[in-house]
Amino acid sequence: MKILITGGAGFIGSHVVRRFVKKYYDYMIFNLDKLTYAGNLENLKEVEDAINYKFIKGDICDREFIFNLFEVNKFDGVIHLAAESHVDRSIEHPMDFLTTNIFGTMNLLDAFRKSMSSDIDKRRIFHHVSTDEVYGSLGDEGKFLETTPYDPRSPYSASKASSDHLVSAYHHTYHIQVVITNCSNNYGPNQFPEKLIPLVINNIKNSKPIPVYGKGENIRDWLYVEDHSAALDLVFHKGRIGETYNIGGLNEWKNIELIKTLCIMMDKKLNRVPGYSEKLITYVTDRPGHDMRYAIDCTKIKNDLGWEPTVSFDKGLEMTVEWYLANSDWLNNVTSGNYQQYYKKQYEY
Ligand code: NAD
Ligand code: DAU
Repeated sequence: MKILITGGAGFIGSHVVRRFVKKYYDYMIFNLDKLTYAGNLENLKEVEDAINYKFIKGDICDREFIFNLFEVNKFDGVIHLAAESHVDRSIEHPMDFLTTNIFGTMNLLDAFRKSMSSDIDKRRIFHHVSTDEVYGSLGDEGKFLETTPYDPRSPYSASKASSDHLVSAYHHTYHIQVVITNCSNNYGPNQFPEKLIPLVINNIKNSKPIPVYGKGENIRDWLYVEDHSAALDLVFHKGRIGETYNIGGLNEWKNIELIKTLCIMMDKKLNRVPGYSEKLITYVTDRPGHDMRYAIDCTKIKNDLGWEPTVSFDKGLEMTVEWYLANSDWLNNVTSGNYQQYYKKQYEY
């Protein structure tokens, strides 16, 4: 089997690539990634020499290149993770998000459709990896179901919602075999430190202010990245064609409580006086259109495929903090250059 994973040098993608290369010796895993600021081949050192792995540097927005790639390789399946993924950046630069997340996805769908063999009985899946943010924002009650109406509220979530709709439309119109997964907030090793958890870890480590948007009362449902990767593996292989599966951590936290937990954990790890890191907390202007609460109901994937989260938040945070402390070079590399300019612009106190 030839499987194309897009965005495999990014945070979640690199966990998925490592899992597939190590687990499926009889597959050939192709990783297509443009290597934007968020893509990093260091994430894949462990598998870079494996004989069932090949990296391809390329842009999903380059239609001719994508069509050629599919024509030559005739992939048996695609797991599509490549995207612009950070909400704050989408507020600053919406066009980048529309281009990559919508037109990039459409190029892949068109190329996959064109390269499909006439063997229609064979399972040839286009697995679109999406987000719970397409459902909008919750109040105090309820959770997102697969049937919850779409209500995206940031340029990022609107672009992901559009791509979800395109994937469904290609299934209905052209009979491409698709599955869509909508997942809650991931955390773990290799996440770019613009996202909350690695940003807080990095700032505590460097004794820098911890920016808390608004009052810090927004709620997110956190899932350890390896659990997400296991769910993607299951849905890719066993998910019902044309279906959507919600994936979540059953693990809701107010941002401020999560940040305080990290402060306590890191004071211990860094042998600092208790309370040192909490003093770094700095309330800053809220994110425009900031969604209040996300929470996923993942009954469907549990009942249909037997998946549920396995890593407790205590354990997952501990592993994450330890990984970032042990990988200072990785952090220093990704936070140099352009990132610094972006970082300064966003968070001047
Ligand atoms: P990320 O930003 O860490 O990685 C994205 C990867 O895509 C990078 O390697 C980047 O180089 C690559 N990429 C970007 N534009 C590209 C292009 N035009 N052509 C080829 N490659 C390109 O993102 P992530 O957090 O790992 O998210 C991966 C996917 O999962 C995204 O589709 C995102 O919407 C979705 N998702 C993320 C989360 C989360 O909490 N991080 C939760 C649910 C869903
Ligand atoms: O829900 C899934 C989504 O989770 C994914 O689709 C996105 O790709 C991913 O980036 C993430 O989106 P969020 O906007 O929820 O994640 P972020 O880490 O940017 O922010 C988490 C929460 O923390 C959010 O309420 C905003 C807040 N925040 C974030 C940052 C970066 C702060 O208070 N301060 C910060 O500095």
